[in-house]
Amino acid sequence: MSRALDYLTQARPDAMQPYFAFLKAAGRRLDPKTRALISLISKVHAQTERGFRQYLTRALRSGASADEVLDALLMAFPMLGLTRVVWAIDQLLALDLPEFRLSALGATADWHALLPMDELPARGTLRREVRGRAVFIHRQADTLMVYDARCPHQSTDVPELAVQGERLTCPGHGWVFDLNSGACIQKGKRPLLALAHKVEDSQLWAFW
Ligand code: FES
Repeated sequence: MSRALDYLTQARPDAMQPYFAFLKAAGRRLDPKTRALISLISKVHAQTERGFRQYLTRALRSGASADEVLDALLMAFPMLGLTRVVWAIDQLLALDLPEFRLSALGATADWHALLPMDELPARGTLRREVRGRAVFIHRQADTLMVYDARCPHQSTDVPELAVQGERLTCPGHGWVFDLNSGACIQKGKRPLLALAHKVEDSQLWAFW
């Protein structure tokens, strides 16, 4: 809540409490994702940076994909206008969330060679940087996964030291991920961004 609303809630609780009750009741038949997307659009309309980040996080945690967030912004174009849509995209770019990158959306994606397969240990996790992008390559028995090394919370570039066995702990705010599935298993909710991969010509390739 903004400082101004906080102030009004304390100074005029009799006027403000019905207002908050109204907001709560107004969306009660909508699912959480739709509610968060509509609130996000209202924050874009008001151009409040803090509110935008708060409801973007809420929308993503409620299961909205990056494509759905972009669609919601474009659908609201007649009300928002070009200036506010561009403002929202600038906010997204500043956050640099992995799921909003053009490559993650499939807009400029291509295959990139990561390393020869004979350099990949049968078990364990390696961090590699290829063409400006850091990835974790995790191999365990039959499991081979490639993840973007940026944390899905606030894009911290997670270092190799963050690997402990089959777990990855982001130094940013301590979100813990299971490297076998990419799932966030402590503190947060969003998984690591898994990249499509293939083995070809004895090399491991990833798509971004
Ligand atoms: S940036 Fe990784 S937990 Fe916050």
